[in-house]
Amino acid sequence: MIYLDNAATSFPKPERVVEAIAQYCKEIGANPGRASHSLARKANATIAHTRRSLAALLEIEDPSRLIFTPSATVALNLAFKGLLKAGDHVLTTSMEHNSILRPLHGLEKLGVTHSQIPCNGRGELDPADIPSLIRPHTQLIALLHGSNVTGSLMPVAEVGMIARKHSILLLVDAAQTVGSIPVDPVSSHVDLMAGPGHKGLLGPMGTGFLYVRPGIELEPLWAGGTGTHSESLKQPDTWPERFESGTYNAPGLAGLAEGIAETQDLGLEAIATHERTLMEHLYNGLAQIPGIILYGPTDRRKCIGTLSFNVQELDCSEVAHILDKVYGIAVRAGLHCAPAAHHTIGTFPRGTVRVSVGPYNTEEDIHTLIRAVSEIVSFRRK
Ligand code: ALA
Repeated sequence: MIYLDNAATSFPKPERVVEAIAQYCKEIGANPGRASHSLARKANATIAHTRRSLAALLEIEDPSRLIFTPSATVALNLAFKGLLKAGDHVLTTSMEHNSILRPLHGLEKLGVTHSQIPCNGRGELDPADIPSLIRPHTQLIALLHGSNVTGSLMPVAEVGMIARKHSILLLVDAAQTVGSIPVDPVSSHVDLMAGPGHKGLLGPMGTGFLYVRPGIELEPLWAGGTGTHSESLKQPDTWPERFESGTYNAPGLAGLAEGIAETQDLGLEAIATHERTLMEHLYNGLAQIPGIILYGPTDRRKCIGTLSFNVQELDCSEVAHILDKVYGIAVRAGLHCAPAAHHTIGTFPRGTVRVSVGPYNTEEDIHTLIRAVSEIVSFRRK
């Protein structure tokens, strides 16, 4: 199988990730922060190590501002629901995933409004469009870093400067970028950043994080045992446990530390260049095939390793099905949980065939895909 669905989750996971999860289960096993015996101390040290590793990767000074969550979606919900109140307005973009749009839609009934910054038909955002859309009660700009449909990269640092100038917070959904390209929230003026552990960071599913810049207050969404201040019924004020009640996914976080280490050993710049080069080959190769419609920026340097296309007159699910069954190639077809993005690029409700690469994909994988698509088109014509 040639796996080209890394925007959904990265696969395969590095062996060191698998080993770390198994080692935690076999040799540590205890509940972090819940006792002082040696296994619980090792468990605690595991979580602290993962948090420090992630802080180092993101160049964040204070690891306690990294809250572990089960996913990027949970992290985004924590950011929205822990920050916003009735009367607040949020600016987002027309390329967002449902992980941003559904929580914002749900918050409407509590009096939180939102509006979209329109992106162009290639899924690109022009930051110059933002100032005129800011309202007196705009508290937050929330946007994805890289599109899971077109691969377009958003100009986060420029948006950060605009947000700072207008005293608005910036929340970035780094679901498609963290671990795949260098991501530096502090120098990009990002106030909050959500990310998954199981995509570019190469960790297991069930891991994710929310970064919150020092100085920003956030209400926890759930309360309970933290292993600290057990004498009090009040949820502790201390970070990060204020937001991490309940037992950790400790085996998953043990694996995540190794995933982070793997991305650092490979080098984020090297991963980004590798994935971008593969996508350039794919874009150029598909462009030679008659009847292929390509979406997203034509300049693939403005993109991550994700690309959408369609075969004229063929349903995208049919193409994905043939690629899977006949050629053993895994891609994702449809709306990719991002109907707004498909409206923006003109592919709603049809959807697209999405190809997304990871650090272990090769040029040969891409050539095999191009040959397969070419054969599907020829067969269709006959
Ligand atoms: N959001 C992930 C995707 O785009 C799951 O496939």
